[in-house]
Amino acid sequence: MSYNLLKGKRGIIFGALDSNSIAWKTAERVHEEGGQFVLTNAPVAMRMGQIDELAKKTGSQIIPADATSVEDLQNLIDKSTEILGGKLDFVLHSIGMSINVRKGKHYTDQNYEWTQKGTDVSAMSFHKLMQTLYKSDAMNEWGSIVALTYMAAQRVFPDYNDMADNKAYLESIARSFGYFFGRDKKVRVNTISQSPTPTTAGSGVKGFDGFIAYADKMSPLGNATALDCANYTVSLFSDLTKRVTLQNLYHDGGFSNMGVSDAVMSTFMGEE
Ligand SMILES: NC(=O)c1ccc[n+]([C@@H]2O[C@H](COP(=O)([O-])OP(=O)(O)OC[C@H]3O[C@@H](n4cnc5c(N)ncnc54)[C@H](O)[C@@H]3O)[C@@H](O)[C@H]2O)c1
Repeated sequence: MSYNLLKGKRGIIFGALDSNSIAWKTAERVHEEGGQFVLTNAPVAMRMGQIDELAKKTGSQIIPADATSVEDLQNLIDKSTEILGGKLDFVLHSIGMSINVRKGKHYTDQNYEWTQKGTDVSAMSFHKLMQTLYKSDAMNEWGSIVALTYMAAQRVFPDYNDMADNKAYLESIARSFGYFFGRDKKVRVNTISQSPTPTTAGSGVKGFDGFIAYADKMSPLGNATALDCANYTVSLFSDLTKRVTLQNLYHDGGFSNMGVSDAVMSTFMGEE
């Protein structure tokens, strides 16, 4: 269903790799709500993914950018404002990657070159993106910037590995930069802390199937899907949430406030 919530708004969407990606669903929903945007991803992902199909479907142009390169980000922002015909109202940072996770390197035995690369891609890229937007004065007043995160930033999920640290850093950047963006440009900055979701990045985490089933059983409303996340993001891009900023917003069916659920307890009571 469409409410025209983003009619006349322009933006950039990072991170749509394939139709499972949270960014893919978000692009589809933003399009349905009347928003216009440029799609972007790392040059290597352009070759692996199916972003052309999404661009066609949403009438969008694609500009490749490695989110760790300030030069690429500057080019992306300059070209996007040109293509869209004005400053931006929304930006989605939906980027995450850990080489330690990908290669099964344990948290207690990290390869620090990989750790550093993961931090640059998953967290520092958000600072680089916002600094480039800020210095270029590329956001309209009452614009909205959203990044995606996971609760391993606050609580221990052993197999989330160094991504837990990257997410803690990402969330801190949202608050710190969000202050200056709010004070100087009237732009809001938030992170959405999403349920485990079956995507390329998500499925890379060891034991993901068990992890997602556990979260689902713990949550009174069940896991939030990628489409649910897209809808929540649309609300944060809309004018209905103008004074929500510096927040880490849990979008997880209630998981983050649970201790234990009947469904999880019953798996331990089976033999009694
Ligand atoms: N899937 C989950 O369980 C889950 C849960 C909570 C939060 N998140 C977060 O959601 C976001 C989106 O991930 P997803 O689950 O949709 O997976 P995904 O694999 O579809 O998306 C990750 C994206 O990051 C992009 N990327 C990697 N390196 C990049 C670079 N250098 N420059 C630009 N882009 C780069 C990839 O190409 C890909 O499109 C990530 O921040 C992820 O950590 C995912």
